Amino acid sequence: MARILLVDDEPRMLSLMNSLLKAEGYDVMSVQDGNKARDLLNTEIFDLMISDIRMTPINGMELLKISRGVRPTMPVIILTAFGSVETAIEAMKLGTFDYVTKPFKMDELLITIQRALEYSRALSENLELKEELVGRYKFENIVAESPAMRHVCEMIKRVAPADTTVLITGESGTGKELVAKAIHAYSRRKDKRFLAVNCAALPEALLESEMFGHMKGSFTGASANKEGLFETASGGTLFLDEISSMPIGIQGKLLRVLQEKEIRRVGGNDDISIDVRVIAATNTSLESLIQQGKFREDLYYRLSVIPIEIKPLRDRQDDILPLVYHILRHETPEGKDLPKLLPETKDMLERYTWPGNVRELENAVKHAITFSVEGKITPDVLPPRILNQIQPLAKPNASTDPASDPYRNKSLKSFLREREREYLEQVLSLSKGDKEQAAKSLKISLATLYRKLPGAPE
Ligand SMILES: Nc1ncnc2c1ncn2[C@@H]1O[C@H](COP(=O)(O)OP(=O)(O)OP(=O)(O)O)[C@@H](O)[C@H]1O
Ligand SMILES: [Mg+2]
Repeated sequence: MARILLVDDEPRMLSLMNSLLKAEGYDVMSVQDGNKARDLLNTEIFDLMISDIRMTPINGMELLKISRGVRPTMPVIILTAFGSVETAIEAMKLGTFDYVTKPFKMDELLITIQRALEYSRALSENLELKEELVGRYKFENIVAESPAMRHVCEMIKRVAPADTTVLITGESGTGKELVAKAIHAYSRRKDKRFLAVNCAALPEALLESEMFGHMKGSFTGASANKEGLFETASGGTLFLDEISSMPIGIQGKLLRVLQEKEIRRVGGNDDISIDVRVIAATNTSLESLIQQGKFREDLYYRLSVIPIEIKPLRDRQDDILPLVYHILRHETPEGKDLPKLLPETKDMLERYTWPGNVRELENAVKHAITFSVEGKITPDVLPPRILNQIQPLAKPNASTDPASDPYRNKSLKSFLREREREYLEQVLSLSKGDKEQAAKSLKISLATLYRKLPGAPE
């Protein structure tokens, strides 16, 4: 039975949590006084501590520091008042497992407790796992170790329950869609649909009928009535991706929909009321589009009731390795060992600038897995564009030790072949994986390209 130390100076809260946790079968020791908690931490062993943050004379932060000293692997859950996220983030930096904002639902706390206990179990079963668990702060599969990304998770938790429109901004590949899905998953709409439409992918007329639906005969090809995404997503969430590309004519219609909560199908006369939450995303600044007269200012204000900005990966280095492990775990079949990341490789991954953000990182890790030898991810199996930008740090004696030379004992044929593959990878990535286009620009046949690609026989 897991043993929990519960600390809160509010007696009613303390006794309520005490009885609920006992009812769940936990062995609970609850104390109101921080001094007493400190003594207990020094003399007894607990599997988990749950502590309020604002207490006198010893507050939760101090208890957390004490616990790090005596039992560094014991997970700690911090209870914090709604709105004091900054303190919670400070606590996370000191190694708190998670925090729960008051007032909270008991279910939420119970789930966090379960996760914390699972985490500490895994940790004590195998300390080797420690490295893989760097990405322990996970939220709907969102890796968030950096303060910037934790803030995004906090925003998700806060805005999800409301029905407000959210505008997510961030460079390509930063995780905008992932965040939109998490908001949906944490909202009361979670059992209804999450539908997405890419505003850049369709010409104006099609986009309009896709969003609002149309009536039979309203345009050539409209052979039957069709409901639009706003109707189909009823009760759920509609994700308007690349909203910056939405033609100005549709922007006006969307604004009306957001204000009136009604749509009218193309060619229709009836107003149909709808209940849909709208989340929009953009990777270009809407402000500058407004100045150029390409985006309606009034729509911008409607959409950005709650703005969430996702920083580029290069500005949140703390997320890089946890993301790498997250992807490695995802790509490794169950029961198999994770490939091992060599320190030089980690260093290069952390120093690269990731213009394509997390999506580029995903591709790089998959590439590295494909080329890894004996389960080791060495720097030379990273994609060429990373190798071209980042020089591995010189290892001690590297220049004097001939064994460290990657080209030693290589035949000219295998050297050329390696270089050829790197070049092919580069061309393929420029053509976004389109092999036909790549073959054309290389002036070779598609069959030859296939033969030369990784996986083909030597
Ligand atoms: N913090 C994160 N944790 C785990 N996976 C992430 C994270 N951020 C992004 N990803 C993954 O990276 C990939 C790209 O994310 P997503 O498609 O959400 O980005 P995007 O901002 O919508 O990109 P684009 O602008 O190109 O459409 C996805 O596979 C997503 O799961
Ligand atoms: Mg996207």
